[in-house]
Amino acid sequence: MDIREALYTTRAMRRVTAEPIPDDVQARILDAAVRAPSGGNTQGWRFLLVDDPDLKAQLGPMYREALAGLWTGPYAPRLAAAEAAPETPEARQFFRVRDSSQWLADNFEQVPLFLFAFVQNDPTGGSIFPAVWSAQLAARTEGVGSSLTSVLGLAHRDAVMRVLGVPENKGWQMACCVSFGYPTGRWGVAPRVPAHKVAYRNKWGAPVGFEIPEPLWPDAKSSEGDGT
Ligand SMILES: Cc1cc2nc3c(=O)[nH]c(=O)nc-3n(C[C@H](O)[C@H](O)[C@H](O)COP(=O)(O)O)c2cc1C
Repeated sequence: MDIREALYTTRAMRRVTAEPIPDDVQARILDAAVRAPSGGNTQGWRFLLVDDPDLKAQLGPMYREALAGLWTGPYAPRLAAAEAAPETPEARQFFRVRDSSQWLADNFEQVPLFLFAFVQNDPTGGSIFPAVWSAQLAARTEGVGSSLTSVLGLAHRDAVMRVLGVPENKGWQMACCVSFGYPTGRWGVAPRVPAHKVAYRNKWGAPVGFEIPEPLWPDAKSSEGDGT
């Protein structure tokens, strides 16, 4: 697969089948992840793959509780705004993300594979998220959907670390949990605020000098998937 297709069409694909991901595919995903950069090339990372039904059964309820806390906590104002004007494009987009996120929570135990990413002594996260995104891009090239999630770490970090047997007092931080599976929806280009609206040149607020009204990947038009 062309790298630009992977860059443009790798997005949160949460709705997946229960079909297991073969070991050779998992190996290629992890091998791509560890090619990523880290500060000083320290590679202070660990990747914990979870496919054990017993572990998923312990983590699923925690995930659901954590997500429920998002809707009633930090996301409550966005939810209220969307419910007040449900027909606006922003509200529709929010509901899509909410429904898809809720699907992942409700079906946590059916998702075939999770990758928990840990990093040591990296307060910025700069030394782990390149590897995580490489894993997601590599999965895309294998036809495997993924979604980065952080709610478990926000709400139940210590309990999750205990369940997974992460050593205590060694500086390991849980960066995120990524779900993996074969998607039920179609791949497509992620809608985003265009780059020229979020980029400046030389001085904050100064125009970047060009406009990009449509995605520059030539096949974007023919690749209008729904994500999930
Ligand atoms: C730092 C970070 C944390 C995220 N946490 C969650 C999460 O806890 N649960 C979830 O379902 N999705 C989570 N996501 C996925 C985002 O919701 C998703 O990437 C975003 O909505 C864009 O989706 P799209 O690429 O399909 O348009 C997270 C993404 C990032 C980058």
